[in-house]
Amino acid sequence: MLKILANDGMEQSAVQHLTNLGHEVDTNNYDQETLKTKLRDYDVIVIRSATKLRKDIIDAVEGSKLKLMIRAGVGIDNIDVAYAESKGIAVRNTPNSSSASVAELVIGHMFSLARFLHISNYTMRQGEWNKKHYVGTEICGKTLGVIGFGRIGQEAAKRALALGMKVLYQDLLGPRPGLDEYHYADFETILEHADYITLHIPATADNKPLLDAAAFAKMRDGVYVINTSRGGLIDPDALLEALDSGKVAGAGLDVFIEEPLKDERLMKHPKISMTPHVGASTEEAQLRIGAEVCDVIEKFFA
Ligand code: MLT
Repeated sequence: MLKILANDGMEQSAVQHLTNLGHEVDTNNYDQETLKTKLRDYDVIVIRSATKLRKDIIDAVEGSKLKLMIRAGVGIDNIDVAYAESKGIAVRNTPNSSSASVAELVIGHMFSLARFLHISNYTMRQGEWNKKHYVGTEICGKTLGVIGFGRIGQEAAKRALALGMKVLYQDLLGPRPGLDEYHYADFETILEHADYITLHIPATADNKPLLDAAAFAKMRDGVYVINTSRGGLIDPDALLEALDSGKVAGAGLDVFIEEPLKDERLMKHPKISMTPHVGASTEEAQLRIGAEVCDVIEKFFA
């Protein structure tokens, strides 16, 4: 029997499945300080993005029964992975479950920006009828640049192709064999040619933004930028400058350096379509993530 702490909550079907197997699942949410003492009593911790498993917590659980940290999601930047593993604690994630949901959100932000949905939803509620301000552009025929061509990047590309877009992609692994409907290009070429750029890479190790003032300067005038990966990939000051100068026509942001978002310059900017880090927040993705968490636990302890 395992004691499992799902500190950021977990899909009910997964809780039920693990309970049926005889495990104890605690879905209480303990704050970071309490975790230091509490976590020693559990075999497994499952987290989403809110809980951070940093050195202080890992030190606090050293020598306890805790053997496995699971990030119910893709990005593991909220766990000090190498440090945990150096203390004999394994770290896993659920990379297979949320790709379609995140890709759909990318396309959602693209439509929102191209047709001013984010802003007209707001102004119409204020009683305004700004028809002449909302002359949009078609997505069909435009070029999407995908930075990072893993599972999510490929799902976004598949949908873009179906919308009549041309897709350029960049990936650390180089050109992907067999994916000839997409065009491999270097980062600079994507910056220069894409009408839309979407990011699908993890946070950079040194926390340096990938899209900074120099990168924005190389982009086409009127480009749209979408980020559903990690907030730190874009320098917010450079983005705001590019939005205000018209270099960037709009940004679709699901992730932010500080979450919940506090930066009012981003919050109130009319050229930003924003969502509160909900890329994986669909019923289907959460069901799959729950099942993947169960699978990870069963395999690990087998
Ligand atoms: C992830 O890394 O899977 C995403 O950021 C989604 C999330 O966990 O909320």
